Amino acid sequence: MPAMSDERPHVYIGLRGPEEALARISEVCEVTSFEGVGIPDRDELLAGVAAADGIIGSAQLPIDAAVLAAAPRMRVISNFGVGFDNVDVAAATARGVVVCNTPGVLSDAVADLTMGLLLSLARRLPEAERFLREQRWKPGASMALGTDVAGKTLGIIGLGRIGRAVSRRAVAFGMDVVYHDAVRDPPGDAAFCTYRDLDELLAAADFVSLHVNLTEATTALIGERALALMKPTAYLINTARGGVIDQAALVAALQRGELAGAALDVFEREPPAPDEPILQLPNVIALPHIGSGTVETRRAMLELAIDNLLAALRGERPPCVVNPEALG
Ligand code: DGY
Repeated sequence: MPAMSDERPHVYIGLRGPEEALARISEVCEVTSFEGVGIPDRDELLAGVAAADGIIGSAQLPIDAAVLAAAPRMRVISNFGVGFDNVDVAAATARGVVVCNTPGVLSDAVADLTMGLLLSLARRLPEAERFLREQRWKPGASMALGTDVAGKTLGIIGLGRIGRAVSRRAVAFGMDVVYHDAVRDPPGDAAFCTYRDLDELLAAADFVSLHVNLTEATTALIGERALALMKPTAYLINTARGGVIDQAALVAALQRGELAGAALDVFEREPPAPDEPILQLPNVIALPHIGSGTVETRRAMLELAIDNLLAALRGERPPCVVNPEALG
């Protein structure tokens, strides 16, 4: 690797990662790593970025204008994840800070989890397991039946890489797949699905799965009005970002029986408080944001995040840039 400059750049790593991957950064940079549990608190983050030329962040680590102001040397924010709603991209761009993410390498893992949730809802898997473990499975006793997925309609909102990967899987399960996206016919691999207006999709789908970024336009996209359009027999799946759903409206819709159930890997607040109403509902499957949570995928994400970071610090174009205008 070519030398970066006379002085080794400083990097703050705001997450716990495997030593061998992080050693790649230490070879060419001075590294300060978060050693605690979870994510650094605000004070630790502000202190960590003060002398940093680059940072590795994650969805849980807010990098806002104040953090950027506390980091006068910052040149690159390399996010460990495809989502970058934790970063104030406009503030970063205004300061010439490059923001990077890790698309592509996690699409299969997130799509697999989405199908797992869809099948879990359809076949009532968590309920079935409780039925057995709680010894309610007696001769002659049976639990409520599930529903087929073949022949049912899946509505995908957001046909990016992950939405497409979900569509291909759902087609293989015999589902009819329709999608809505801000862009009609967005570029990408074949996804075997047809476009619908959002309202049409919500009204037609037996399962609705969310795969959009969290932006101003998608915040609370699935609120009271959208939920009211869905069939009372329909299920909602969210492996994107919690903020895409108005969680209070979803709780109300589920309580009123306007929706059959929901499976959520993401929440408005993460982790959700134990007494969050959404966690009290029997027809909700809740997971702790594990969409990309496989050994292989997390390794690939970290390698890509490091590639992005080191390229930017060398003054090269990183493989995955969110704000190319910051490259100058
Ligand atoms: C992502 O990549 O954005 C996942 O949600 C992990 O944060």
